[in-house]
Amino acid sequence: MPRRAGGTLERHEQKERKGIHAEDTHRLVGENVVLRPPTESDVEVAYAWDRDPELAAWNGRSPLSVSLPAARRDYLSRWRDTSVKTFIIEFGGEPVGMATLYDFRRGGCELGIKIGPNELRNQGLASEAVGLLLDYAFDVLDLDVVRGSTLSHNGRMQRVFSKFGFVETGNGSILSRYDNRRYSEVFYELRRDR
Ligand SMILES: CC(C)(COP(=O)(O)OP(=O)(O)OC[C@H]1O[C@@H](n2cnc3c(N)ncnc32)[C@H](O)[C@@H]1OP(=O)(O)O)[C@@H](O)C(=O)NCCC(=O)NCCS
Repeated sequence: MPRRAGGTLERHEQKERKGIHAEDTHRLVGENVVLRPPTESDVEVAYAWDRDPELAAWNGRSPLSVSLPAARRDYLSRWRDTSVKTFIIEFGGEPVGMATLYDFRRGGCELGIKIGPNELRNQGLASEAVGLLLDYAFDVLDLDVVRGSTLSHNGRMQRVFSKFGFVETGNGSILSRYDNRRYSEVFYELRRDR
């Protein structure tokens, strides 16, 4: 799936079509999803996702075990941290997932994403969100590269990376804190100038 058209005018037109408002860079509006900054009202849903064993396993983490008040303090400080860009993914006006741009260095950043409810996965929501994030990263933040990684058995996430033209840059292994087993992971990147 080509994400971007070449040329300033075409890029501008694509932004208009997708509804990205450069003057309001923290609210990315697509056809089905809206990406917006998290607010205090998102704490409970974020907490529920972080306690979900399946989501934790896909991230190689153990489900969150701290109390809600402790998690609230952590979320609110993380969401205020301007070195990380966190977005709530809304679908039908409800928060359904989270996307993060983080680890800004060497002209690029890392992209992480999750769709919370199992029944909403495989419906194209992450693909649309990633398209919006890539336009934001390249056209608004002016980055040269967006990086990502996922477990080698995460076919869905790999498909999302590959459909936008991400290329594999290597692989490694992580010790999952979910089950203390070692898994292989794949690293990806998408360069603006490719
Ligand atoms: C991974 C995740 C973010 C993808 O979001 P999503 O909204 O489900 O993804 P989409 O529906 O946009 O796209 C999924 C693609 O994978 C394909 N797919 C589904 N299962 C697959 C599999 N086992 N192997 C390969 N491709 C698969 C789908 O057909 C679709 O591709 P298509 O659009 O070409 O048909 C989401 O499923 C999720 O949150 N999963 C749990 C947490 C997670 O894995 N997070 C990523 C950690 S790195």
